[in-house]
Amino acid sequence: MNRPDPRPADLHVGPVREELSFDHGGVSRFNAWFFTAFAGYINYAARAHKGCAFDGITGGAVVELGAGTGANLGYLPAGTHLYAVEPSTQMHERLRRRCQAAGVQLTILSTGAEEIPLPDASVDEVISSLVLCTVADPDRVVAEARRVLRPGGRFRFVEHVAAPQRSVRAGVQQAIRRPWGWLFEGCDPHRHTRDIIERAGFSSVRWEPRKFRRSLFWPVNTAAWGIAER
Ligand SMILES: C[S@@+](CC[C@H](N)C(=O)[O-])C[C@H]1O[C@@H](n2cnc3c(N)ncnc32)[C@H](O)[C@@H]1O
Repeated sequence: MNRPDPRPADLHVGPVREELSFDHGGVSRFNAWFFTAFAGYINYAARAHKGCAFDGITGGAVVELGAGTGANLGYLPAGTHLYAVEPSTQMHERLRRRCQAAGVQLTILSTGAEEIPLPDASVDEVISSLVLCTVADPDRVVAEARRVLRPGGRFRFVEHVAAPQRSVRAGVQQAIRRPWGWLFEGCDPHRHTRDIIERAGFSSVRWEPRKFRRSLFWPVNTAAWGIAER
């Protein structure tokens, strides 16, 4: 299918609601360290997912929800302008360094993806990995992802999701919700992400449930990748 020319890479950035950013001290420092130290391992476990979801990104302006310290930079061509919606200020310095090394132009939006300070229909691609489990209002975040996409633009995601009801893993996911959420700054190990994306009004949603490969993180191995088109 012929795609229209990509949107301009330099977008108008509106007011950023910095009160939605955070630094929880030691636990935020731990997360910034963890998602840097384990990026290679997580990318190994999720390689098949990311390879499918993020395949074919051609650059231009890309919005990443919860970009963390840059785990997905390998999927962005050099020269891409990455608009990284990342409320944890502890992630920012590592993200800057890794973008510089990857030749990716970076604008950090230090706020929650519940309010993305970019115009309607301004980008071709929105990506996320392991983020919809963590945001406080996932319906609003997915609505924002859809709003900033131009018609035909894609929201590409890789997420860990709720295990099937009444399975042992679902029980474990529910039992560990509180400590897991504390350690990983709000992450819900039992989130029904498919329903959230399907009710957001995209013109099509591809949803591919796949467990992560040989992952040590057994409770959250139930995962999916997908592409939702506006
Ligand atoms: C589990 S980490 C994943 C980081 C990165 N995407 C990766 O795959 O390594 C979740 C990320 O979502 C970010 N986050 C938390 N609340 C958010 C929100 N409301 N909007 C956008 N990102 C958020 C966290 O700061 C963190 O960087």
